[in-house]
Amino acid sequence: MLFTNNPLYDFFCVCVALLALFVTYCKWSFSYWKRKGLEGLEPSIPFGDTRDALLGRKTFMATWVEIYNNLKSKGLRYGGIYFGLKPVYMPIDLNLVKSILTTHFNSFTAHRLYVDEEVDPLMGNILYLSGSRWRNVRLSRYNSFLGCCCFGIDLTATKTWEADFFLNCPKKDTFRNILLDLIIPHPILHFCKYNSFDPEFSVAFNSLVEKSVIYRKEKNVEINDFLQLLLRQFSNTDTLGSPRQSKTAGSKTSNDKSVIRDVAAQSVALFVGGSETLAHSLAQAVYELALATEIQNRARREVIRVLEENENKFTNDTITNMTYLDQIVSETLRKHPAGDNVIRVCEKAYKIPDTDIELDIGTMVVVPIRGIHYDPSYYPDPEVFDPERFNENNRAQIPPGAWIPFGDGPRNCIGLFCMRLALIIMKITLATILKNFEISLNKRTVTPLKLYNRGLAATCEGGIWVDIKNIN
Ligand code: HEM
Repeated sequence: MLFTNNPLYDFFCVCVALLALFVTYCKWSFSYWKRKGLEGLEPSIPFGDTRDALLGRKTFMATWVEIYNNLKSKGLRYGGIYFGLKPVYMPIDLNLVKSILTTHFNSFTAHRLYVDEEVDPLMGNILYLSGSRWRNVRLSRYNSFLGCCCFGIDLTATKTWEADFFLNCPKKDTFRNILLDLIIPHPILHFCKYNSFDPEFSVAFNSLVEKSVIYRKEKNVEINDFLQLLLRQFSNTDTLGSPRQSKTAGSKTSNDKSVIRDVAAQSVALFVGGSETLAHSLAQAVYELALATEIQNRARREVIRVLEENENKFTNDTITNMTYLDQIVSETLRKHPAGDNVIRVCEKAYKIPDTDIELDIGTMVVVPIRGIHYDPSYYPDPEVFDPERFNENNRAQIPPGAWIPFGDGPRNCIGLFCMRLALIIMKITLATILKNFEISLNKRTVTPLKLYNRGLAATCEGGIWVDIKNIN
């Protein structure tokens, strides 16, 4: 007996009391931004402003764009919203976006991804790290690898362990669900010993790096690639840049193991950061070209002409002279940014410019890349794929900061190297396809495309299928 002689009634009362308590807690949580003086939307209990996405009725991608549009249509320069119960600050005005990513970057160096290197050392990679560890890795390991290619792997070989990894990789999810990192409080993830990498992927990736490193050491092979660069650097210093303990006979194995662990952690960032984003961007470019025959034909004419003028070789000049292809790539990255948002966390006191409002330390910030790229005040008819937006005249009209597929500021997509590498890979791949094939959409592709986020880049439900016709 709790309150009365009727246990069922008591149970009912307890449930009602708990529910009332929960609703009061939600209402109090949802008053956070009002208490701070920020305007926002109408959060619903308990899903906040992301109800449809959390219930699976809409994709997160569409939901973030909707939130951006709703804040903008209220005439706001910034807004306070709720991702579930979690308060999120969203800058709308491009100057405020710049303030987060560039001007006041020191207050926002972290990506709010959960790191527990004891569960999986792969999580200690540049994408996940924050503060001085991130800064150190970024400055010492990545700024110097212009000119190297990443892993020196022969993808044409079909019977090697490297090829086995790459051929089987698409069947594996790299991440379990990256959204969990964002929404679930990190102490809970720590308690559950959560690993954001798929364990199967993690084992396969570590083994790939280990085998590559051992192979190079045993056979004395040196390749001019990123792996070799990391290997050289990590053999002398650890992830923090401190000198490694000198090798004694007894410590050799553990030293080697820690080098392999550090090399694997930094390589995984390039692998997932580079492969998922590029695969997504290329697939979307091919999809748009398959739909737009005129754009495809014009691009093909340009590719064939420029290649003929340059002895059919891809050189810096060839790529620079394919100006229409460049417009296509820019428009693809505008319409289909691989990352729909950049997430940051406020780590140091930050006052929203021209206001007296200070963000609390720990506040999550969503920079709405996709929202900005679909804003009709920057891109009229944003749903239309129109490479002319990026011709010489029109490109000059796009406000600074309104095209940010690679993020911006000191934590953007690894400075000039990865951005350039990504653009060059996209152009050479598309030019090669256009030169040799006509592309049309296969009816297996479900249109309109339904995109959802699981890993770093958006994934398309059912995949994109095209028919190709050899034209040579
Ligand atoms: C079309 C292709 C690509 C797109 C759209 C893209 C986009 C992005 C974005 C939006 C970020 C976050 C920036 C920020 O927080 O402000 C990022 C970071 C990063 N990208 Fe890329 N990326 C691409 C290709 C690549 C490639 C080819 C590589 C390497 C081979 C790469 C490696 C990385 C790494 C390591 C980071 C983390 C940087 C850090 O946290 O300091 N990305 N990328």
